[in-house]
Amino acid sequence: MTDLHLPLDRSAGRLAAQIAAGFRAGVRSGRLTAGTRLPSSRDLARDLAVSRGVVVAAYEQLTAEGFLIARRGDGTRIAPLARPDDSPAGAPARPAPARPAPLPSGAAPVVPGARTPVDYDLWPGSPDLAAFPRDRWLAAERTALRALPNEALAYPDPAGAFVLRAELAGYLGRVRAAHTDPDRIVITNGVAHALSALTRLLRANGHGVLAVEDPTSVRQLPMLQATGIRLVRIPVDGEGIDVAALARTDARVVLVTPAHQYPTGVVLSPGRRARLIAWARERDGLILEDDYDAEFRYDREPVGCLQGVDPDRVVLLGSVSKALAPAIRLGWAAVPPPLAARLRTHRLHTDLGTPVLPQHTLAEYLRGGGYDRHLRAMRRRYRTRRDALAEAIRRHVPGARVHGVSAGIHLYVELPPGCDEDRVIARAARAGLSVAGARPMWSSGRAPHARPALVLGYAGLGEGRLVKAAELLGQAVATGAQG
Ligand SMILES: Cc1ncc(COP(=O)(O)O)c(C=O)c1O
Repeated sequence: MTDLHLPLDRSAGRLAAQIAAGFRAGVRSGRLTAGTRLPSSRDLARDLAVSRGVVVAAYEQLTAEGFLIARRGDGTRIAPLARPDDSPAGAPARPAPARPAPLPSGAAPVVPGARTPVDYDLWPGSPDLAAFPRDRWLAAERTALRALPNEALAYPDPAGAFVLRAELAGYLGRVRAAHTDPDRIVITNGVAHALSALTRLLRANGHGVLAVEDPTSVRQLPMLQATGIRLVRIPVDGEGIDVAALARTDARVVLVTPAHQYPTGVVLSPGRRARLIAWARERDGLILEDDYDAEFRYDREPVGCLQGVDPDRVVLLGSVSKALAPAIRLGWAAVPPPLAARLRTHRLHTDLGTPVLPQHTLAEYLRGGGYDRHLRAMRRRYRTRRDALAEAIRRHVPGARVHGVSAGIHLYVELPPGCDEDRVIARAARAGLSVAGARPMWSSGRAPHARPALVLGYAGLGEGRLVKAAELLGQAVATGAQG
C-alpha cells in the first residue's frame, strides 16, 4: 500500500483537516502523483489510528476540491489535474477569436438612498452590519496603535503591512487551504480594487481579453469595463463555469467565483475545477479566483480554494466585506511571485498603498482570534436566517425555486415561469421590500432565456422579518404574475 507520510498532531484537533492538508502538500510537492491509488478509508483510518469517519470526511473534502477522484470499483486516486486530454472536447487547437457578448445595461442601483422607503432591505451584498464587532475592533485598533512604531506612519510598503500579510498567509492556509506566504500577498482596498489594479496591469502586459462568468456581479462589470479590457461572457450552469466554452474563446485570463458562484450560488464541480486548471496550464493563462464569501458554508466544510491546487496559475482574491463590513475597504490578493512584484510596483506608481492603521488593526484582530470567533458566530446566525428565508419562500411563493448550496449571504430565487421580473420588483418596492432582479446580471444574449429571478440578501434581517418579507414577496409575485 502507498506510504502516505501523513503526520498528525493529535493535540491540535481537526484531524480530517490535517489529513486533507497533508494530501494537498503531497500533491503540490509531486510526492503524490496523478493516478496514485489511495488506501481505503478503513485501511487508512487503521494506519493513522483515527475513526473511519475522519478519513471519509477528508477524502470527501479532497474529492470536492478536485485533488482526488473516486470511482466505483476503482477506489480513490489522486486526480490527473494536468492530463493533456483534460482539455474540453472539441476545443480547437488554436481557438478562434470570439466576439464578446454585449454587456447588460440597466445595472441595478447600488446606492441604497436611490430607492423608495424600505422596511425590508433584502438588497444583496452586505453582511449583518448591526453585528460589526465595534468593541473588539476598537480594542484591536488601540492595541495596534499603541504598538505601532513611529516609522510605520511613513509612506507604507505598497504591498501592505508585513504583519497583516503574515497573518493572512496563515489564515488563508488554515481556512481556505491556500498555498501562500507573505511575499505573495498584496493588500488592497477590497476585491474591487485588486481586480481593477490587476486587470489594468494585465492589459498593459498584453492581455487584451478577460473572460467573466455569465451571470455575474453587476457591480464589477463597470469597473472591469473602465480598464479598457475586452470582456467575454462565459456561461455558468449547474456545475459552474463552462470550461469548454471558455476554451473556445481567445481569453487567457478568467475571473471566476468557484466556491459559491455569484449570483447563482452553485459550486464549481470537481471535474470542472480540474479542467479549469488544465485550461490555464495549456493556455499559459491565469485564473482570478474571487473568494468573496467562501467562509460562509453551512452544510459542510467549504471547498478549498483553487489557488491551493495551482498557486502559480491562480490569483486568490478576498476581502473583509462579507466577514466584517464593506465599509472597511480591506482586501487581499495572493499572487504568483512575478506578478506580485509587478502589482507592488503598480501600487507604487498609482496610489502609494492602503491605509496602514486598519491593516494593523485587522492583523491584531486576526492574531487574537477575534476574526475566527466572529465568523463562527456569523455562520450560525446566517445559517438560521438562510434556512428561515428558504423555507418561507417555499411556503409563500408557490412555483419559486431556491438555487444553490447552503452558503453565503444571498439566495438566488427563480420566480415562477412567465412572471415579469421588473413588475415583481416594482410591486415589492411598493410593499416596502427592496430586492434585486437577476436579469441585469446576465448578458443580453442569455437574459431572455434565463428564468425570471431575484437575488435576495438575507444577512441583515432576523428570522421573523424574513418570513414576513417572504409573505410580501409572495403577494408581489401573485399580482405580478397576473400582470
Ligand atoms: C462577486 C463579488 N465579489 C466581491 C465582492 C466584494 O467586493 P469588495 O471586496 O471590493 O467589497 C462583491 C461585492 O458585492 C461581489 O458581489
